[in-house]
Amino acid sequence: MAKPKVVVSAPLPADLRERVEAECEILEVPVGVSPLEKLTQDELSSVEGYLTTVRTKFDEEVLKKLPSLKVVSNFAVGYDNVDVDAATNANVLICNTPKVLDGAVADIAIGLMLCLTRDMVNGDAYVRDGSWAAKGAPALTSDMRGKTLGLLGMGRIGRVVAKTAKAFDMRVLYHNRNRCDISEREGLAEYCDRDTLFSESDFLSVHVPLTEETQGSIASREFKLMKSSAYFINTARGGVVNEQDLIDALEANEIAGAGLDVMVKEPLPADSPLCKMKNVVLQAHVGSGTVETRRAMIQLAVDNLLDALSKNKPEAMVNPEVWGQV
Ligand code: 8YV
Repeated sequence: MAKPKVVVSAPLPADLRERVEAECEILEVPVGVSPLEKLTQDELSSVEGYLTTVRTKFDEEVLKKLPSLKVVSNFAVGYDNVDVDAATNANVLICNTPKVLDGAVADIAIGLMLCLTRDMVNGDAYVRDGSWAAKGAPALTSDMRGKTLGLLGMGRIGRVVAKTAKAFDMRVLYHNRNRCDISEREGLAEYCDRDTLFSESDFLSVHVPLTEETQGSIASREFKLMKSSAYFINTARGGVVNEQDLIDALEANEIAGAGLDVMVKEPLPADSPLCKMKNVVLQAHVGSGTVETRRAMIQLAVDNLLDALSKNKPEAMVNPEVWGQV
C-alpha cells in the first residue's frame, strides 16, 4: 500500500524525520510558507497529514486545496493560526503540543519580571560601558519578592507561573473565564474580577490564547487601571494587546515598564518605539525556545501526526469531536 503523503513545514530532527519517513511520504515546505505556494495541485490533492508551525495560516482557502487531509499537527500549544471551525466542518483533526512547554514559558515570564524590577538589562550595559567605574553604583531597584502578581488566564502555563511566584513569596491574583478551583484550594492564587486584577497587580502577566474575544482586549482602559509602578508582561500572543495603546501608556508613564516575548508583528520591526524604551525588555518569541522543550514539542507533534494517520487516538487534540470521523 502507498504511504500517506504528509507536508512537513516544521523543523524536524533527523531521528524524527526517519520515523515519519518510515510511515509516510514527506513533501517538504519551508517553515512559514504555505503549501499552496510550493506544491502542485496534484500533490496537494493527495496530502493526508500536515505538520506545521504557528507561522503558517491554515484557513478555508488552504483546506479547500487539500481534499484528502485528515490531520493538521501544529508544532505549538497555541493554534490561532488555524481556523478550527472550518477544519471541524471538514472533519480535519487539529492537534497541538500542550503541557510540555509550560515550565519554559513560565520561566520566561518570571525572567522578564526579574529583569524589569531589578533593571538587569540596563544594569548589564552600565557595567560594560564603564558607567559603574565612572559614576559609581547604579540607582537602587525594587523587589519582586512580596509583591502582587496578577495572572490574566489561569490555564496550565498560568498555574506554573503561580507556583514559581510562590517561591518569591508573591501574592498571586488571577482572573479567568472559569474559576480554577484547584488553584484556589491549593492556596496558589486568589480569584478576582478583571478590573481588580489590573488595578491591584504589581506585575500583570498575560496567559490567555488569542481568539476573536481576546484580540486587542488589553488596551488603553486596562493600562489606565494599572498602577504607575506596575509592569506588564506578555508571553502569550501579541495580538491580545492593543500595541499602540501599550506604547502610549509607556510613553505617558501610566505603567512602569513592559516585558514582551510576543508582539503583534513578529519579528518586531527594529524601528518600533518599543525597541527604544529603556523600561521595556524584549524577547524574540522564545518562551518555549529551549533545546529540551522544543524537542519535547516536536516529538509530541510527530506522535500526534503519526497516531492520527494510523488510527491511534492522538494525545493532544484541539477538536476531539472529529476523532472517529478521520
Ligand atoms: C511557538 C508558541 O510555537 O506553542 C506556542 O503556542 O507560541 C511557541 O511555542 C514556537 O515558536 C514553536 O513554533
